[in-house]
Amino acid sequence: MIIVVTPTYKRLTRIPDLLRMANTLAHVKDLHWIVIEDGPQIVPAIVKLLKRTNLPYTYMAHKTAVGYPKRGWYQRTMALRFIRSNWEEMLGSEHTEGVLYFGDDDNSYDIRLFTDYIRNVKKLGMWAVGLMYDVLVEAPKVTNGTVTGYNVIWHPTRKFAVDMAGYAVNLKVILNSIAVFGTSCQRGKGSPETCFLDDLGLEREDIEPFGCEGEKDREIFVWHTKTSTPNIVQSKKNQTKPVPPPDTFGY
Ligand code: UGA
Ligand code: MN
Repeated sequence: MIIVVTPTYKRLTRIPDLLRMANTLAHVKDLHWIVIEDGPQIVPAIVKLLKRTNLPYTYMAHKTAVGYPKRGWYQRTMALRFIRSNWEEMLGSEHTEGVLYFGDDDNSYDIRLFTDYIRNVKKLGMWAVGLMYDVLVEAPKVTNGTVTGYNVIWHPTRKFAVDMAGYAVNLKVILNSIAVFGTSCQRGKGSPETCFLDDLGLEREDIEPFGCEGEKDREIFVWHTKTSTPNIVQSKKNQTKPVPPPDTFGY
């Protein structure tokens, strides 16, 4: 069973962003999608979208608590707590293995990320991520199957220099720990990814790199895309006829 955790929040492009992700995840077997609304309550348009995937899902609302950055940290923390209390029901009797992946709602995912990489993670899987801010690709440096460093620009000496989209963790590791995304790991100290993986008790030697050895034939299975916000004045006066049906944008 693959558990995908996705924080999400209201914005103009949220429905199309989540729709792209839903259309990908709907093709993956044995996947449970946990979506956490950064807001006071769940949103009906998102419920409908999740139902249409036919995937088992959990949708809950946890507005970012004071002291947390508004970038999904609090929502992932609440999801970790939920998983640690409900993993048996989520896995069901036919599954013994689980793998957790933090998939943000705006990235672009190749189905093979789930079927070929995440599904096979025994402890800590890691892979390349395309379009990371100022570089085409960020990836672990791999020699003879071992990670020796990272091809990244920002803070390359971090123990785990990887974006949220570039790793997945076996559920056993998650259940043997109480690590969450706390408030102490701010930018200067590294990043939420390296703090969390360190807090889980993981080491560099635990990394299983996927698709990183031959640079030439490397394919990218996940892209850190960012959808630009259209320049629309959010006022009904600005809307030409016909107006979109209510709920189209999940507001
Ligand atoms: C990058 C990483 O890709 C994130 O995984 C990481 O959490 C973030 O940096 C960080 O610095 O902590 P980036 O693409 O810049 O993230 O950020 P977003 O995609 O805007 O946000 C990450 C996730 O949090 C998304 O799923 C987004 O929907 C959610 N989010 C964002 C909220 O739940 N609330 C917000 O107010 C903003
Ligand atoms: Mn993003």
